Amino acid sequence: MHLFQYRVPLVAACLPIAVAISACNQPPAAPPAAPAPAAAPTQTPTERGKVLVTVGGCHDCHTTKKLGPKGPEPDMDKMLSGHPEGIKVAVPYKPAAGSPWTIATTDTLTAWSGPWGVSFAANLTPDTNTGLRSGVWTEELFINALRTGKHMGTSREILPPMPWSFYSQLSDDDLKAIWAYLGTIPAINNHVPDPIPPAGAPPK
Ligand code: HEC
Repeated sequence: MHLFQYRVPLVAACLPIAVAISACNQPPAAPPAAPAPAAAPTQTPTERGKVLVTVGGCHDCHTTKKLGPKGPEPDMDKMLSGHPEGIKVAVPYKPAAGSPWTIATTDTLTAWSGPWGVSFAANLTPDTNTGLRSGVWTEELFINALRTGKHMGTSREILPPMPWSFYSQLSDDDLKAIWAYLGTIPAINNHVPDPIPPAGAPPK
């Protein structure tokens, strides 16, 4: 009992020395891991553009729909070619008096009727007659349109429900990436009609 009381402090005092000695006998610690290299660009602008178009919801309005096993789904054979020219819409939707509903859309979600008249989702494919590579559009006009909300960046207001004000917050690089990607998708000849003014609007 007596002995034990003395030994405890002794062992305790020896312990740091033992640890120090054994540390000296260890091989040197591995050098710290090298810092991770700066992230290499993993996406080309075109790949980035594809992501932005996909998660930006462009297909919702610019790709017509077909009936799939679970109901309407984007018809990717007609990807981003806008409102199908064969689906004719002549006049704006007229809500019944007192109806709480004001906006209507075709089952393709490509033609939209509301207080602004009827708007038709544009053909975003690179078709040289009817799409974004028709020679009328340039990358600059495309960026200006999405930044300013003016048709082609200069003329009339871009109509609802095109959510340009959200896309306007993208960086130039991202808008350029979208433009680049849209140049790589299959070109589809589809002449999207001009918007129809609201009923009763003075002729332009
Ligand atoms: C909620 C529906 C909707 C979504 C989502 C949508 N658009 Fe549109 N977009 C439209 C409609 C409708 C028009 C036609 C507007 C008009 O004629 O003024 C249009 C027009 C455009 C135009 C032509 C603008 C102009 O200057 O006339 C471009 C370019 C465009 N959209 C790009 C896109 C891109 C890129 C995306 C996705 C990042 C997208 N849109 C998502 C409905 C939509």
